[in-house]
This record gives sequence, C-alpha cells and structure tokens, in this order.
Amino acid sequence: MRYSLKLADALALSSKEKEDLKLASILHDIGKIGIDDAILRKGGSLSAEEELKMRRHPEIGARIIGFADEIKDIMPGVRYHHERFDGSGYPDGLAREAIPLQARIIAITDAFDALTIDRPYRKAIDREAALVELLNGVGSQFDPALLEIFCGIMRAEGTGV
Ligand SMILES: [Fe+2]
Repeated sequence: MRYSLKLADALALSSKEKEDLKLASILHDIGKIGIDDAILRKGGSLSAEEELKMRRHPEIGARIIGFADEIKDIMPGVRYHHERFDGSGYPDGLAREAIPLQARIIAITDAFDALTIDRPYRKAIDREAALVELLNGVGSQFDPALLEIFCGIMRAEGTGV
C-alpha cells in the first residue's frame, strides 16, 4: 500500500483515486479467502491443477467486492492485478492501457513487496535485487512507464541500484 501511494503521488492522482488505490492495494488478494489453505501454504511450486485454482482468486475477490457498493471503485485493482502488460495475464488477458491503472500499479508494487519479504516458499531478496527482477518483466509483465517511475522513486530512496 505504501509503495502504491508513492507511485500515486508521482503520478499526481486525485485524492479519490489515491483513496481507492490505497484500499485496493490492501484488499487486492481478498479472493484468496476462497482458495484452499493447503494451496496457499504450500512450499515450492504448485501443480497445474493447484495453479488453476489459485488463478481464480482475482475473480473471487471481485465477486466479494461486488457485494459492497461503497468500495466498488476498487474492483479494477482486485480483478485485474494479475493481468500482464503483454496480454498474457489473467483473468481476462487484457493488455497495455486496457488494464486499469489501479491494477497496473498494484502489479508492480505487489511484486516488489513480495520479493522483499520472506514467503513460505522463498527468502526475501534486497531492494536492489528486487528492482532488477522487476526490470526483467518490463513490457511483458509490467507497464514500462510506471516501472520506470517506480524504479526512480526507489533509487531516490537509496537502494543503491
Ligand atoms: Fe493476487
């Protein structure tokens, strides 16, 4: 959420857009409530069948958000945060600017966050290594313009990259 808001500031988003982005960043994975714990906690890689189940979490999340009219504006971040810039993501295979901005931001900040904290299946890497990792996905996974801004912010904070 903090990383998303840094990007929001750099993009000069409105306060309403920032509010939505903040909440979307916190709740984007809410659909994992509907995924089996055994899959969520599994160390190592998922089987094809488990991966298919896991890939349902954005749609489950969007359904949950759909019940709460007050937060409907975070739907784009919840539903589309696993879309990829080149159109090979899920659930809908959206590409480029067809992916809502909220989701393009969260794709970057969530990936960065995931890389820099310990996970059940992987140790954290430092910020510098995480930025390099993200840059591997520029244009394929991530929006190049947004990633450039994000790297600029992180570099200015002193990651040493
Ligand atoms: Fe997710």
